[in-house]
Amino acid sequence: VRPTTVLRREALTAAVPVALAALLAAAGPATAGTGGAPGVGDPYFPLAGNGGYHVDHYGLTLRYDPTSRHLDGAAVLTARATQDLTRFDLDFKGLKVTGLTVDHDRAQYRRDGQELVVTPRRPLHKDEEFRVAVTYSGIPEQVTDPDGSADGWIRTDDGAFVAGEPQGAMTWFPANNHPKDKSSYDITVTVPEGRTAVANGALVGQRTAHGQSTFHWRQIEPMAAYLATATIGKFKVEQYTTRDGIRVYNAVDPREASRAAPVLKKLPSVLEWESRLFGPYPFRNAGSIVDHAPNVGYALETQSRPLYDSAPDLSTLVHESAHQWFGDSVSLTSWKDIWLNEGFATYAEWLYSEQHGGDSAQKTFDGLYRHPASDHLWAFPPGDPGSGKNIFDTPVYERGAMALHELRTAVGDRTFFGILRAWAAEHRDGHGTTAQFVRLAERKSGKDLNHLFTTWLYSPGKPNEA
Ligand code: ARG
Ligand code: ZN
Repeated sequence: VRPTTVLRREALTAAVPVALAALLAAAGPATAGTGGAPGVGDPYFPLAGNGGYHVDHYGLTLRYDPTSRHLDGAAVLTARATQDLTRFDLDFKGLKVTGLTVDHDRAQYRRDGQELVVTPRRPLHKDEEFRVAVTYSGIPEQVTDPDGSADGWIRTDDGAFVAGEPQGAMTWFPANNHPKDKSSYDITVTVPEGRTAVANGALVGQRTAHGQSTFHWRQIEPMAAYLATATIGKFKVEQYTTRDGIRVYNAVDPREASRAAPVLKKLPSVLEWESRLFGPYPFRNAGSIVDHAPNVGYALETQSRPLYDSAPDLSTLVHESAHQWFGDSVSLTSWKDIWLNEGFATYAEWLYSEQHGGDSAQKTFDGLYRHPASDHLWAFPPGDPGSGKNIFDTPVYERGAMALHELRTAVGDRTFFGILRAWAAEHRDGHGTTAQFVRLAERKSGKDLNHLFTTWLYSPGKPNEA
């Protein structure tokens, strides 16, 4: 296993606490009546997201002081009820709520772990649009994921590395925190002059006054909450437009600049190459945030602008860029399907190598099949990692990529790349499930692929040689 992969996952031993949350989420009374459910029903993260409404747009206005680590926030959510609601939840952890209104009326709320339970003055009707405004403040705290890694608002020596996969969005804004719910965003961040705040999408405004700089970002294409960022640091900034008309904004910590430069220079050609393979790049904006966050240990495909904890190598840039199609534009409906993100992004690395003078994908496959770095590669099947603890582990990435390679071998290159392009096109700005991918592959190839996918995605242990 190459070091790039090691960077993104962690060999962790933290025991999974039994999902008490699962029991709570499943318990009847909490979801009865016209209250919105406290989760969307994700088996791995039962309290992630909320039932009863969809958020169309988040307007987040933040002020952060890296010295005191104090964050002041105002979030305005424009939402639509999908059922009658006397009460609904937001996911929000830590920070103190200082005010909350629904449609400009002060609403009652209480905190219950990561649930912010809101009771509007007047019940909401199915299909009604409503506006929730929350003000909050305090010192944001990162969350520890089931695998022991950290996500959310992660403090750095000059700002914050802000990454939310899978749970961390709720550490800095109240959210419907599950990829099932995608929204557009305006993210406005004020920081002391000399720092830069980088979020998703287009930079639509920037000003400095009285020693404070404000950056206003707008993400138009729908985005899952975990892909939002507001990373802050002392960055060097570079902006340009690619031949395809994509606006690029790169922000780089000067300590990483010399190692990052040769890799970032390749971003336009990587995006062009991926566009040829996967179909048009799904967003108007692109770029990179190269932070200096030695305690993080991974990169994240934050939408339109991947976030790196240090200068990435080319393979990692290829990986996070491929996620813009697979994971960001086409989102998960359940964390269990994580191979649709990680297996695809890993396979993009193999393809890049194959088409740029490195090992063929077959050779990478064979190497893993014959001499895996450890038996851990076969520890669980990628289509059913078992729990949130395993979603970023080697079998999801490497065996997930192996499953795609098996598909390619079975259907041939022409059909295989047609399947990838159809997947990105048919689910663009939307969602996909493993079952839908299997059906698409069968439709495009005219083959019964049940055995192949059952073997590579769902069967425990090392699959037999075909
Ligand atoms: N999706 C990221 C990648 O593979 C990994 C995110 C890991 N997140 C975490 N909390 N460990 O590029
Ligand atoms: Zn990935």
